[in-house]
Amino acid sequence: MMIQKPKGTVDILPSDIGIWHYIEQVARKLMANYCYHEIRTPIFESFDLFSRGVGETTDVVTKEMYDFYDKGERHIALKPEGTAPIVRSFIENKLYGPDHLKPYKVYYISPMFRYERPQGGRQRQFHQLGVEVFGGTTAASDVESMALAVDILNKLGVKDLKLVINSLGDTEARLAYRQALIDYLEPHFDELSEDSKTRLYQNPLRVLDSKDKKDKVIVQGAPSILDYLSEESKARFEGVKSLLETLDIAYEVDVNMVRGLDYYQDTIFEIMTNDQVFGAETTICGGGNYGNLVKELSEGRQDVPGFGFAIGMERLILLMQAQQVPVPQDESLQVYVVTIGDETIPQAMKIVHSLRQQGVSCEMDVNHKKPKKQFKDADRRGALYTLTLGEEELAKANINVKNLQTGLEKTLKMDQVLADFSQIEELMKEGKE
Ligand code: HAM
Repeated sequence: MMIQKPKGTVDILPSDIGIWHYIEQVARKLMANYCYHEIRTPIFESFDLFSRGVGETTDVVTKEMYDFYDKGERHIALKPEGTAPIVRSFIENKLYGPDHLKPYKVYYISPMFRYERPQGGRQRQFHQLGVEVFGGTTAASDVESMALAVDILNKLGVKDLKLVINSLGDTEARLAYRQALIDYLEPHFDELSEDSKTRLYQNPLRVLDSKDKKDKVIVQGAPSILDYLSEESKARFEGVKSLLETLDIAYEVDVNMVRGLDYYQDTIFEIMTNDQVFGAETTICGGGNYGNLVKELSEGRQDVPGFGFAIGMERLILLMQAQQVPVPQDESLQVYVVTIGDETIPQAMKIVHSLRQQGVSCEMDVNHKKPKKQFKDADRRGALYTLTLGEEELAKANINVKNLQTGLEKTLKMDQVLADFSQIEELMKEGKE
């Protein structure tokens, strides 16, 4: 049988790449405006980084890791998410450094790996565009990152998104709430889904997030985490809400919203869509505060809070395509050099070579196609100009230039093309002699 790509992976072909480039370009510009710098960490990390960082009982760690032992018997995992690796790098490279670098702001665009059941917007290799901020200690820092996520999606022209926020409080609040939730759910134990039964004692907050219909009805009456927040967490959450209002960013509070990864505390948020393309409400971007992760992974040596988010690139692209968001195409071919007769090929190559060095995108036929086919090729590929070289032009050191948009055609000196094609473009635009 012919070898095919692994299940849950996708080839991003040249015909699909335009939208990726566009999103990356818009996002990079905005992230630079917000003073974030790019960071690139390895695709694989030690398995323990995720079991300790993301949480031993999370689906990501228990069910979805691509992990293996390498030839040196090291337990390795392909990264399922970007935060734990960046926290590792932050600690290992001592990026907590001097005060003037605080908060320390980075972004990444990277493939991630989760062994999930593939469906629309869910793959086993997917891509995240994410940011992490270290050392921001106030609501203002939370809101700055959230505003960036919203800004990226708005700038791209995505419509009908909903920003949902919640607060998970600090560890103490979560422990108290955890118990309150168990007390509330226990009488309903027999009615809960199998998944929720297992989660009830391991990670009861995840029951709130269940997609099961019966579970959803049960959790509607559950106590609210917001009633368990410390004064400090309450103030921070109030600060987040009021700053979102200051920035005119619409939001909803969902007290039942939790996240699939264990490192969060205080502010969490998701940006969701109800677009039919996904069949159900779907999260495009998720993130929040992880106040203790640096402390945990540095074994208490550093105590720097973090905040970040990640946008799922494939989901974003599906949504943009469903909403028919206009996407500028990558630059098309500028010049196609047509050769008439094999003896013109060396000179044509010289022209192509020179044009490429001048920064002009340029192509010629290398397979002895008939001139008619070459013209067709130039047309099909959307070339702006053809430069045609036949025996006569070669003998007189001329070349025939045609603007394929206007039909204007001129015979010009070869030297002019070799010296500066931009002048010829001017000439051909204006129709000057
Ligand atoms: P997450 O919610 O697990 O958060 O993932 C963020 C986004 O990645 C999701 O909202 C979704 O768009 C996309 N995503 C997740 N899994 C898949 C998949 N299997 N296929 C396609 N897209 C997927 C995180 O990963 C956190 N590290 C975000 C964060 C950064 N929190 C703080 N900093």
